Order: sequence, then structure tokens, then C-alpha cells
Amino acid sequence: MNYPLDLRNITVTYPDGPTVTIALDAADLQVPAGQVTALVGESGSGKSTLLSVGAGLVVPDSGSVRVAGTDLTDAPDKLRSQTRRNHIGIIFQQANLIASLTVREQLEIVDHISGRKRRPHHADELLEQVGLGGLGGRRMQQLSGGQRQRVNIARALMADPEVLLADEPTSALDSKLSQQIMDLLIRLTRERDLATVVVTHDRGLAAECDAVVEVNDGKIKETIVT
Ligand SMILES: Nc1ncnc2c1ncn2[C@@H]1O[C@H](COP(=O)(O)OP(=O)(O)O)[C@@H](O)[C@H]1O
Ligand SMILES: [Mg+2]
Repeated sequence: MNYPLDLRNITVTYPDGPTVTIALDAADLQVPAGQVTALVGESGSGKSTLLSVGAGLVVPDSGSVRVAGTDLTDAPDKLRSQTRRNHIGIIFQQANLIASLTVREQLEIVDHISGRKRRPHHADELLEQVGLGGLGGRRMQQLSGGQRQRVNIARALMADPEVLLADEPTSALDSKLSQQIMDLLIRLTRERDLATVVVTHDRGLAAECDAVVEVNDGKIKETIVT
């Protein structure tokens, strides 16, 4: 089977005074296209580190990293950043949005950074898909928390990535909005055939995903296919 996100035997250590912290210890994560995997586990268990490895932001001490058909194991920085820019959508807990820009501009800036021509029409299509049709001209302070997270999701999809990585995208939202955001991530994953990983503390939301992977002390403790 071909996995757009394929992490194998990943070990990551961080220096910690005279010793090291083992953030990941031979962890595996494979996600097929069109499916959402929930990543659960206690704080400090290694979830964000595993996502960062998948995003090409952290280079593991050992293990193999394949993302969107590209082997990033031992890849030069340039290939990792190109892959990240063109093939991976990343969503963090706090929407890193720029207050002075409009919603549409938040999306267009992705094109600008990538050296592409701006595609306002593409931005508007994505805004429509995330339920923000007609709001492209608004500024951030005119949006609710849930709407901001939708902007964040739309922005992560601007490059039409194959892989979507979301680190606790609902932890700042109440349960009703969290449910809506998870439903949206699942729907977009199906429609766009994404390989998606969502870190969440909510077991109920995790159970709605296609698989639940539990991380414990840097190791994959359990994988449940729902
Ligand atoms: N940049 C870093 N430098 C040093 N230690 C780190 C760094 N990032 C994470 N860690 C450590 O690695 C372990 C896993 O962290 P993390 O992946 O953030 O866990 P989680 O997202 O599950 O809360 C923790 O012990 C954390 O303190
Ligand atoms: Mg984390």
C-alpha cells in the first residue's frame, strides 16, 4: 500500500542538560489517502514531535520519512522546505493569522511566499469549501474563533497539498465548534483525498476518525481502526 504520509521507526532525541530526552522512540505512522488519523496521548508524549517530523520541520535521529511520494530521509533542507510548501498543509492550535490582512489576503500570502502568481479565485473557492463564502473581505477581528480556525484550514489547503497535519486544531474551541471543525476536516479529507493527521485530546472526536493512534512516552502504544 502507498501512504502519502509514511513515517517508519522514527526516533527523535533532544539534548536535556547532561542527558537527552527521548521524544520519539521507534514510532511508526502511516496514513492512506482519503483518511483521517487521530493522534492521542498525554501531554509530552511526542505527538507534536511526530507531526513536526511529518512536516519536515524536525529531522529524526533515525527512521525513514516519506511524504507525498518524496523520500525526505537524509534529504537536503531545500527539498524538505519545497515538499512542505507544495505538498503539506499544516494547522496549529492558534491560527497564526495576520490581523491587518483580510481573509482572502491571508490565503493569497501563501502564493506570494511560494513565488506563485496570486490566485484570488482559488482563495475564494477554498473559503466557500470551508463555509466562509462571501467573507473574503473581512478582517480577523471581524471573525469568531471558529471562523478563524476555518481560515487557518483554508490557508493550509492553498497549495492543494496531499497531506494535512493539524496539531490540536480544536483545543481553543468549545465542544460544539470543535465538533464542527472535526466534521469539516473529515469532509475535506474525503473530498480532496488528503492523508490527514489530527492531534486531539477529545476521545469522542478521535473516535470519529478512521484510525486512532495512541502515543505514550514516545512510542506508539496502540492503533485502533475505527
Ligand atoms: N524543541 C524541543 N527541545 C527540547 N525538548 C523538546 C522540544 N520539543 C519537545 N521536547 C520534549 O519532547 C517530548 C515530547 O514533546 P511533544 O512532542 O511536544 O509532546 P506532545 O505534543 O505530545 O505534548 C517532551 O518531553 C518535550 O518536553
Ligand atoms: Mg503537542
